[in-house]
Amino acid sequence: MHPALRAFNLMPIQTQIFDTSDQVAQSAANTIATLIRNKPDAVIGLATGSTPVKTYAELIGLHRNENLSFAKVTTFNLDEYWGLDGDHNQSYRHFMQNLFFDRIDIRPWNTHVPNGKAVDPALEGEAFEAKIRACGGVDLWLLGIGSNGHIAFNEPGSPPDSRTRQIDLTPETIHANTRFFQNQEDVPRKAITVGIATIHDARQVLLLATGEGKSKAIKQALQDPPSSQCPASFLQNHPNCTFMLDKEASSQIT
Ligand code: PGA
Repeated sequence: MHPALRAFNLMPIQTQIFDTSDQVAQSAANTIATLIRNKPDAVIGLATGSTPVKTYAELIGLHRNENLSFAKVTTFNLDEYWGLDGDHNQSYRHFMQNLFFDRIDIRPWNTHVPNGKAVDPALEGEAFEAKIRACGGVDLWLLGIGSNGHIAFNEPGSPPDSRTRQIDLTPETIHANTRFFQNQEDVPRKAITVGIATIHDARQVLLLATGEGKSKAIKQALQDPPSSQCPASFLQNHPNCTFMLDKEASSQIT
């Protein structure tokens, strides 16, 4: 175990606190790499956003320098903006290709991101869930967390039995996303997201959070009773869930 690491069990969620966000990324990448080395055809759930970027860089390093192969791995992403197609430079498909998939040996047909341009969001949601089931379910889902406690785009108010569906983004999330778009009016107002039940079905969940801005949501997720007000708090019911945090993100845990 890394000397900078403090580990303790607050609740069923295993909480690991690291000095730096680099150490969070290294630990997350090592967890995923160990899974793939034990199960080369693992099914892995992935996230976009700023938080996992360093983890993807670490995994690319393990692929290039330590023969970690993704050739048999299947991936599912959490969400996609509604109305953007995969070629749009702010789509989550584009993000994943650019930062990860194009830099490893994963087979393109084994990568799945919800289709933000699907004709019928309800059918797209059902098809996405069916694909996950057909692959035998997700072995490990990597997550970030929103400062409002959302996981994927399951905004506050999302029920624990939710599945892949179209949702309206909250003003807070739209505001947080404006940094990626040139004009405020270009920021998508809707998204298609897996549900809380979809995430809960994964055999293992690994949530990463770095920075002070996440500290309130982390405290609520770990220490408040599970409720739709903080969708991440529903992870308290998951039998194999780990939060990897830097010191800043853990600063409000009491
Ligand atoms: P972030 O987003 O990693 O860019 O902070 C996480 C999230 O909103 O789920």
